[in-house]
Amino acid sequence: MLIGKWVVILEPNLKFSMKLTNHQYQIQGLSILDICEQYTAPLYLYDGNKMVEQIDLLRSAYQDLPLKIKFAAKALTNISVLKLFQKQGIGLDVVSLQEVHLGLLAGFLPQDIQFTPSGVSFAEIQAVVDMGVMINLDSLPALEKFGEVYGSSVPVSLRINPHVMAGGNAKISVGHIDSKFGISIAQLPQILAVVKDKQLTIKGLHVHTGSDIFAGEVFMQVANVMFKAAKHFKNLQFIDFGGGFKVAYKKGDKTTDMHALAKNMHSAYAQFCEDYGKKVDIYIEPGKFLVSEAGYFLVKTNVVKQTPNATFVGVDSGLNHLIRPMFYDAYHDMFNASNPEGDLQTYNIVGYICETDTFGNQRQLNEVREGDIICIKNAGAYGFMMSSNYNSRFRPAEVLVYNGKSHLIRQHETMDDILRNQILVDVTEADLVKV
Ligand SMILES: Cc1ncc(COP(=O)(O)O)c(C=O)c1O
Repeated sequence: MLIGKWVVILEPNLKFSMKLTNHQYQIQGLSILDICEQYTAPLYLYDGNKMVEQIDLLRSAYQDLPLKIKFAAKALTNISVLKLFQKQGIGLDVVSLQEVHLGLLAGFLPQDIQFTPSGVSFAEIQAVVDMGVMINLDSLPALEKFGEVYGSSVPVSLRINPHVMAGGNAKISVGHIDSKFGISIAQLPQILAVVKDKQLTIKGLHVHTGSDIFAGEVFMQVANVMFKAAKHFKNLQFIDFGGGFKVAYKKGDKTTDMHALAKNMHSAYAQFCEDYGKKVDIYIEPGKFLVSEAGYFLVKTNVVKQTPNATFVGVDSGLNHLIRPMFYDAYHDMFNASNPEGDLQTYNIVGYICETDTFGNQRQLNEVREGDIICIKNAGAYGFMMSSNYNSRFRPAEVLVYNGKSHLIRQHETMDDILRNQILVDVTEADLVKV
């Protein structure tokens, strides 16, 4: 859409913060080609202001509810991003002892962090308890052991599996009856028996049904399961409804209507409080909702290759940097940042890894030339976090833009990173080595 002489806002319904101004794509007023020049592609680029905007949106939607937002840290644990969130006064949901450490290093207080592990060792649970962090236990054996060790001395929360099938892909649908996650809602009697026997103090209930769920009805169906279960626990201080809110990955995508959901939640919550006899806090754990659209993955074109059937754009990246398209069949929109006015052509955008790692097939991009920077959208959530050193490649750098300034928040890796922790032993000579 043309606004004024040179300004085009990309797909305004998607609300991406990247803009084309004076023939240059910009983020918070900074040219992304300049950023690439300064920090070198491949590069994850995050718009911190967009992340804050998403928090504000949630707060305004849920303003009539006692809401606590716990960012699902696994989506993006760069410590500078965590710091930005800590400064906004939200909390964290974490899934490993290491994420607890990162949260504390970023300045979160233990009471602002929730630990939602799946099948971890009891030693890990104990280590997190020692740090003063609330745990969402996700199995009956863990609950029993917790009761034996702590009895009523350490309050705890329970992750419930609501038996609801929902999510954008089977791998990220985690609240159904066949899923490994949570304690089945059908096992409520066993839960209550253990709680009574071990005199456990249950302070919270937790649920997370899946990712990429747009339908408000699904969230309400799950909320009703939770409100019903909650009546069996007398000391609740919170119910945690997890994350999974859907954002747009491409034009026309359905997204979760947060205002409508909050409105429905409000009436169900009011009824629950009346029945329960007191108020509890409402927690949500958005991951993608806070960081997906704020992130861009910038890669450089190594080769444009014509075959009888297709034109391939080979970039200096692959499934080692962004695995979502290959792992979840996720659609990531993209554009040619270097040639915004080139003729539109159809390309297959592929990586350099020694297996098929396609970022996008049959995509319309402005003419791509060697050296052009391709910008892949929605890369903020589960992008860098799922990257690896496959093919012994370096992982990319990360840059955070906030209030018009760019900051390097993770440097490119080097051979030192590839070799760290490796020990060179020539096993054919090992017996001969004199100590
Ligand atoms: C327990 C828990 N909470 C929250 C989330 C965040 O989900 P999303 O990024 O879809 O909001 C996840 C994601 O897997 C999760 O496992």
